[in-house]
Amino acid sequence: MQIKVASRLSRLPPYLFAELDRLKREMQDRGVDVISLGIGDPDLPTPPNIVKACQEAVESPVNHRYPDYQGLDRFREAVSKWYQSRFEVSLNPQTEACALIGSKEGIANFPVAVLDPGDIVLIPDPGYPVYYSGCVFNGGEPYFMPLRKENAFLPDLSRIPAQVARRAKLMWLNYPNNPTAATTDKVFLQHAVQFCLAHEIILAHDFAYSEIAFDNYRAPSVLEVEGARECAIEFHSLSKTYSMTGWRVGFAVGNSQLIAALGAVKTNIDSGVFQAVQEAAIAGLTGSDDSVKRYCAIYQERRDLMVDALRSIGLECELPRATFYIWASVPSNYTSASFAERVLRETGVVITPGSGFGKSGEGYVRFSLTVPSERLREAVKRIKALRI
Ligand SMILES: Cc1ncc(COP(=O)(O)O)c(C=O)c1O
Repeated sequence: MQIKVASRLSRLPPYLFAELDRLKREMQDRGVDVISLGIGDPDLPTPPNIVKACQEAVESPVNHRYPDYQGLDRFREAVSKWYQSRFEVSLNPQTEACALIGSKEGIANFPVAVLDPGDIVLIPDPGYPVYYSGCVFNGGEPYFMPLRKENAFLPDLSRIPAQVARRAKLMWLNYPNNPTAATTDKVFLQHAVQFCLAHEIILAHDFAYSEIAFDNYRAPSVLEVEGARECAIEFHSLSKTYSMTGWRVGFAVGNSQLIAALGAVKTNIDSGVFQAVQEAAIAGLTGSDDSVKRYCAIYQERRDLMVDALRSIGLECELPRATFYIWASVPSNYTSASFAERVLRETGVVITPGSGFGKSGEGYVRFSLTVPSERLREAVKRIKALRI
């Protein structure tokens, strides 16, 4: 029998990282000491108080059963208390917060809740790939908002044509930003909320990197902005804040109708977050933020080292105020992919070509700071030897 898969799969872009993945495996098989600065997966361990809370919860049979779809009451209360103390935003834990199996789950499921076929989705370019796949999997039409250096990697909303804005149903924003590491302030978020309210567009803010910040920068929540509660939902992750990528826990907060719609989708697709993991998350959200501060200090040291080193070998990059990424311009005569490939092939260092995040990512590569400083130094030493 000829298997015919759904045509929506053919709407996914070609997987740009496939050749690099193959090359990386081949080099590892040959015994090359590969340094991966490719993915944003923290090397620092989950803090011990969080691990311990999970260990204790695992013992209890009450946690062995199906969890509540929206999350334990205590989980949602912990989220709402954390929002109050971190952003001075008060949330009703019953109606304005929902647990997620990692924020990626919510980001992928949210379009199911709000899109009808033909609706336009405004997507940052470059951007986290799930905004696009969530759009096309659900019959939406993507409209890319370029993030350009001259605009501080913020979308220029005034350039969105009126007929696009009229048909747009959903806008994604993500600050602190992956992959550009750009940050924003309340003024821009206010502008975005006003734009969305004026055009009746749902604003979805991906806030996965909210706590990974340096130099006293504090990333604002979109919910701090007047009017946001009418149109916005914010997606949060514990993955980066507490080095919990493997645990799969996050949450969505914001407009109660949007939270209810997402919840309705989730009740038909998943069965909630393992309660012992929710207990771990509660320990993180209600505990001291010492570990977050300590980890940010480590990322900051790596950032300083890496920015200096990259600049010294002629790779132009900004000093990011947040995230654990560095977004660097590729040297002339290279595309993002050809540069990343040469670096991998000749030095064993994996970096991510910007074009993998969208057309406007061309001309850049992303370095992830999720390896120890000595490995970063070694990576730059090897790249320097290329004499690019
Ligand atoms: C911008 C952005 N959003 C969301 C996620 C998903 O994180 P998680 O599903 O682990 O919460 C990531 C992960 O890398 C990301 O970079």
